Amino acid sequence: MAISEFLAELDELVASATEKFETAANGDLLEAARVEFIGARSGLLRQTQQGLGRIDKSDKPAAGKRFNEVKQLIESAFETARARLEAGIATAEDEEHFDPSVPGVLSQLGHMHPITQTIEELKDIMGRLGFSVADGPEIEDEWHNFDALNIPRSHPARDPLDNFYLAVGERANDHTMLMRSQTSTVQIRVMEQSPPPVRVISLGRVYRPDTPDATHLPMFHQIEGLLIDRQVTMADLKSVLRLFASSYLGEDVHIRFRPSFFPFTEPSVEVDMSWHDNWIEMGGAGMVDPAVLTAVGYDPEEVTGFAFGLGIERLCARRHGIDDIREIYRNDVRFLHQF
Ligand code: DAH
Repeated sequence: MAISEFLAELDELVASATEKFETAANGDLLEAARVEFIGARSGLLRQTQQGLGRIDKSDKPAAGKRFNEVKQLIESAFETARARLEAGIATAEDEEHFDPSVPGVLSQLGHMHPITQTIEELKDIMGRLGFSVADGPEIEDEWHNFDALNIPRSHPARDPLDNFYLAVGERANDHTMLMRSQTSTVQIRVMEQSPPPVRVISLGRVYRPDTPDATHLPMFHQIEGLLIDRQVTMADLKSVLRLFASSYLGEDVHIRFRPSFFPFTEPSVEVDMSWHDNWIEMGGAGMVDPAVLTAVGYDPEEVTGFAFGLGIERLCARRHGIDDIREIYRNDVRFLHQF
């Protein structure tokens, strides 16, 4: 076969393949065109390639080179057409007839995670009660997580099975660090840095090696509150928590204190909130222990104060009727879209 004939055949092939791909109005038509031209067994490209064997030996390199170019042209025309159909444009011609007045498809916007939304709302509520926001690190030393909070060396709360301790290089033995197990750490950091009076909240992640269930997670969030001033009493604590609870959960919520013990408060209470006759433990609270005030250099004869720490996931779950807090972190958009 003369090379000119072969080259003409190739030109024709590119032209007709490109046209077919460009005008294919849907995936089925495009697939049919693909099989017709570049189908591995009997596609036209394949058939034309067989003509290569009948070309004069001296012309073979030129013919082969052109064949490869044509093959690439056809394949890229196919890819272009495929991309066009994927983008929802029916034919290449439609692209030129683009109508800018047709209403577009709104893309879905994301939004803040429910826990972030809850945190923002809790800050807002406590802000109106005069509390400003303080922050502390999630990787803590034992002084802030335990010692200054009056938690003795032998206290079970320090058990390695109940904490995520971190080995910090050479210093691991004398300066043990851990993922903080409570936001009470921030009470100490705030009091160390500023003299009384104090009126702060701190909201953030805490970590405990608990097995996840409907009310527990190994990482969860707490809101910590601390108020230090002259002559602060337990009645102030209860008023603030009641205002807080009714602002976040609604007027029909009740709160209840149950006697308890925390090393950093005296007296100490567990804080329960009720919702349609169902009491749920939300956290702990109490009057700041004089030993804590002393540890940060305050004079317990001069000032007193209250503190509380509540679980943010539990508050959020109560408010939105979520019966398993693990849902909050499954990241199922059908769940998250509801917030
Ligand atoms: N830190 C305690 C916990 O995680 C909760 C708590 C109890 C915080 C009493 C306080 C408090 O500030 O006064 O279980």
